[in-house]
Amino acid sequence: MSSVHPLNFHDGLNKGVAPVTYGQGDRPPRGDYSSAAVDYTCDQQWHRYTDAEHALYRRLHARQCSQLQGLACQEFIDAVGYLGSPEEIPKFDDVNERLYPATGWSLVAVPGLIPEEAFFALLAQRRFPVTHWIRREEEFDYVVEPDVFHDLFGHVPLLFNPVFADYMQAYGQGGLKASRLQACDMLARLYWYTVEFGLIQTPTGLRAYGAGILSSSGELPHSVQSSEAVRLGFDLSRIMRTRYRIDCYQASYFVIQSFDQLFEATEQDFAPIYGRLRSLPLLDAGEILPAEQKLPC
Ligand code: PHE
Ligand code: FE
Repeated sequence: MSSVHPLNFHDGLNKGVAPVTYGQGDRPPRGDYSSAAVDYTCDQQWHRYTDAEHALYRRLHARQCSQLQGLACQEFIDAVGYLGSPEEIPKFDDVNERLYPATGWSLVAVPGLIPEEAFFALLAQRRFPVTHWIRREEEFDYVVEPDVFHDLFGHVPLLFNPVFADYMQAYGQGGLKASRLQACDMLARLYWYTVEFGLIQTPTGLRAYGAGILSSSGELPHSVQSSEAVRLGFDLSRIMRTRYRIDCYQASYFVIQSFDQLFEATEQDFAPIYGRLRSLPLLDAGEILPAEQKLPC
């Protein structure tokens, strides 16, 4: 289904030691961190992809594209083509020739999940880290760590949208600040319920914009259509108190009205909000408070 993201990692610069993932038991991240630079970027090594890996990308791409109509937001559908040929894993530099002129973002290759400070620093510079390796055949339906398909197909189309592109940079800057305030856990929940699993209300109905949904063939219809899922209106403080699980479909989704709403709601200084939220209990995914209304799908 979805993927984890780099927000729950040990701090620090790359000392040649693979960072520790959370929630994964004792399996280390699979990337080769020894070849990464201090900022954790590395070469995509595009020529190393095998024909079978390109074919796997092609099949993942085709399956996702066949489901986008009516489930993915139009901004995403309009931009998927900018990734380039669906026949093979794109060269990040080729995507950059289109992405940089559009919104000033560039893709950089990374060996996999990276420590949160390194991740925030890249986002703050409008550089989006994309894992270079692709999942194994057995992981066609489900991969625990983000791979190139999740990172590229799920995240990159919306980086072509000017408002969303600015939100991602603001998030990176906010992340560096949250690290100083020891509030990364709260900020990570915002990332999770927007960038990874966000839904948006449109004139033609509910649609997905979160990368974890858009790169998952099962969660895409589930998130938009399942009557079991709890959908609540976007509420910044509520989101920052809501736990999430990384190993199953989300029990709760939060719905924005527009990317402008998301950007504007997150412009305020989070420091006092962090202070206030620290004394409140966390809420479980799937929980509905007495004052809350589940939104219809
Ligand atoms: N405004 C936030 C702060 O003061 C920064 C931020 C912006 C965080 C957008 C997330 C998304 O910390
Ligand atoms: Fe992701």
